[in-house]
Amino acid sequence: MSASKNAFLATFKHLTRAGASNSASARVPRITKPIVAAPMNGWTGPNLVAAVANHGGFPVFPIGYFTDRNAIIKEVRSVLPLLKDPELHKDDDEVEFLPYGVGFITFWLDQQGPELLINLLEGKGDDPNRQSRPRPPAAVWFSFGDYKPYLKLIRERRPGTKVLVQVQTVQEALEAQRENVDVIVLQGTESGGHGIQKVSPLMTLIPTAVQALKDEIALEAARGSKLNMPAILAAGGISVASQFAAVQAMGASGAVIGTGFMPTYESSGPQHAKERLLQTGDGGINTVRTRIFDELRGIDWPQPYDGRVVRNLLTNREEEDLRERGLYQQKGLAAFRLIKEDRTGTKEDWVRAAKEQDLDIVPLWAGTGVGMLTKQASAAEFIDQLIGEQH
Ligand SMILES: Cc1cc2nc3c(=O)[nH]c(=O)nc-3n(C[C@H](O)[C@H](O)[C@H](O)COP(=O)(O)O)c2cc1C
Repeated sequence: MSASKNAFLATFKHLTRAGASNSASARVPRITKPIVAAPMNGWTGPNLVAAVANHGGFPVFPIGYFTDRNAIIKEVRSVLPLLKDPELHKDDDEVEFLPYGVGFITFWLDQQGPELLINLLEGKGDDPNRQSRPRPPAAVWFSFGDYKPYLKLIRERRPGTKVLVQVQTVQEALEAQRENVDVIVLQGTESGGHGIQKVSPLMTLIPTAVQALKDEIALEAARGSKLNMPAILAAGGISVASQFAAVQAMGASGAVIGTGFMPTYESSGPQHAKERLLQTGDGGINTVRTRIFDELRGIDWPQPYDGRVVRNLLTNREEEDLRERGLYQQKGLAAFRLIKEDRTGTKEDWVRAAKEQDLDIVPLWAGTGVGMLTKQASAAEFIDQLIGEQH
């Protein structure tokens, strides 16, 4: 796939490496496949980040619910030794950015303050023993909250750092275009993990958003000013090559994949959870969106958000409660509060289950595409399967 034709790859065309040709000056793009490994807490660890980067994709390291800045910086640092290209390990200023992103949960970043983001932009995630200029990650990813206050900070402190913003609605996509972000990730309801409760499937979201963004550009042009078309990526339920082709046909340059990378050998999730994913069929009925786990964990996710998980005893119980008590009619916080007050038994189950990683109780976040994942593969094999290349 060529960077001149693919808007996502073009965004990262400044990340280059030495080509195979004899000519010393021949440089080739480092990111060659428009596939982003989503930042997934507990799953997108250093091994998966490195495996995706080593194979020409673009991984995003999850910053998640951080509290300890130094611990996160240490983890980010552990990616570099796993990256294969020797050029990345030379102590010179040839390579300006490290070939991965860091992904923030924006409302959490607001609570913790911007120091970690600043540290990463300063290159604190690079090898601390380098004499040359410390390198920041090539991109910062924001999801779930207002990223706008951080754009200025990134652009002032480390110009050239790309910004990826994951959004769930057309309105948010239009706002991100106005902010001139580099990549908009359209997250459909199929997605594993958190997202907005009431949101379109990708089949509708992509063409609607792409058209709206184009209309906006035309409108501005008629007024004599210029708006850019950001690169568009699709996120949600994408597991196989036909889906990857379909989102591209609808106007996306590539895909963000979470669930599909979870059962790979390199992901940092536990093997019994990987097996549970591979055994789960039909993701449309075997996954469900819920807020119950955040309520039980005591993580105060803002109201519009919930998350998609593989159904388990707890989500079934939640649904029974809703049905039996007629709470389906009383949607929203009130209903969840009632359930939570009523659930002392469940809370005890929860503490035990969290310790044992009992997937009948604790959440196994996954998208609707989980049903199509049946075989464990390496991250590289999974990527090649998606883009239709034989391994
Ligand atoms: C286990 C898991 C953890 C996730 N954690 C995050 C996160 O920390 N930050 C974030 O922006 N998105 C997170 N996501 C959502 C992804 O960004 C992405 O939208 C989603 O994985 C795409 O759908 P898919 O899982 O069906 O491929 C997570 C998804 C999963 C499955």
